[in-house]
Amino acid sequence: MDKFIVEGGYRLKGRVNLSGSKNAALPIMAATLLTDKECVLNNIPHLNDTLVMNKLVNILGGKVSFEGNTVRALNKTIKEFKAPYDLVKTMRASVYVMGALLGRYNKAEVAMPGGCIIGERPINLHLMGFEKLGAKIVIEHGYIKAKAKKLRGADIYLDTVSVGATANILMAGIYAQGQTIIRNAAQEPHIVDLCNFLNKLGARIKGQGTNTITLQGVTSLKGGTYNVISDYIEAGTFMVASAITNGKIELVNAPLDNIEAVKDNLIDTGSEVKRVKKNLLVKGLAKPRPSKIDTAPYPGFPTDMQAQWMALMSVAGGTSIVNETIWEKRFMHVPELNRMGADITTKGNTAVIKGVKGLSGAPVMVSDLRAGASLVLAGLRAKGTTEISRVYHLDRGYEKIEKKLEALGAKIRRFK
Ligand code: UD1
Repeated sequence: MDKFIVEGGYRLKGRVNLSGSKNAALPIMAATLLTDKECVLNNIPHLNDTLVMNKLVNILGGKVSFEGNTVRALNKTIKEFKAPYDLVKTMRASVYVMGALLGRYNKAEVAMPGGCIIGERPINLHLMGFEKLGAKIVIEHGYIKAKAKKLRGADIYLDTVSVGATANILMAGIYAQGQTIIRNAAQEPHIVDLCNFLNKLGARIKGQGTNTITLQGVTSLKGGTYNVISDYIEAGTFMVASAITNGKIELVNAPLDNIEAVKDNLIDTGSEVKRVKKNLLVKGLAKPRPSKIDTAPYPGFPTDMQAQWMALMSVAGGTSIVNETIWEKRFMHVPELNRMGADITTKGNTAVIKGVKGLSGAPVMVSDLRAGASLVLAGLRAKGTTEISRVYHLDRGYEKIEKKLEALGAKIRRFK
């Protein structure tokens, strides 16, 4: 298993090119199953997760190829309607093929995704939405089977804001007869991107980016070429990399509209963040001010930035509070940060972070994607050497992270 060795204490400086958004790419790749015409997707990050999605669509009988950052999909006829356990267990986003298959063929079968290290991660709302559209759901032998004679538009209210349920219901409803309304829908940029992609193929979706999304069923979709948005979580991670190393990083073509929450909190804690044409320049400072954040659905502070934020607050000049309101168990990075000298205690979904003078390099282990990012950030700041094992979690969601950091002056190396 690969590991990273990070020698901390260097200020990061320079420009970084952001990759395409993983969380947009995955549902969009699944959504290519909705049409028999060719789709060309640009700016797809080359990651373990996107490779798994590529494999999954091919297993179902689609024809998808991945070259550089372009995915070509020509999914003329689908022969298989079952997403196997082996793939679903490695990547929960496999569940997105369910909405797409159900939408196009009125049937789909997906292995139960099961719990996960950052919380229970249920999919009851996805299934409720499918049922409202007219599907019958049966759960047996560890698989969820959905089948419908005909899907009909419905008025669907999500009692919790869910990115996954919003995307899956959207895909299932594309060909449903009449109008579908999703209320209390997720407003995340990746949901907007999925809707924009589907509209480019001829779908009739309105209201994306608000909490009410309306779609009129269509009878066919075309193909098309689409450029996926850049990754605002990767952007946020590099912004924190600049802040925590007292650095000066310019994010090229930054997703300026999507990173407000992180940007505002960075400014509040003393970093300088300024727009330079299409780029964003972030200047850190030696000692950030403490802060209080609650993670929340977009446009709130993203749960996917919580771990990285905690790394920064661990060296703040005072005590910070983090409330994790999306995933109840998303504090796996805390004991590891504490191994590096941080002073963090948790109770329920609240973490209290007492800023320390400095962090010190230590052997640490990655438990999930964003926890991994927080340990890399802490390693960049720490005195001495940090050995980070299980970096395969990072490879699920950050494209060439060590190369990008190295180009900014970090001392980070991958060992096989
Ligand atoms: C969530 C994040 C997303 C992030 C991803 C990975 C939010 C709203 N979503 O998306 O930004 O990229 O994690 O870290 O911040 N829920 C149910 N029933 C369901 C589905 C979800 O109760 O059927 C609940 C979950 O337990 C959770 C909340 O809804 O508390 C958000 O879940 P959801 O948005 O679906 O999760 P992801 O799509 O994984």
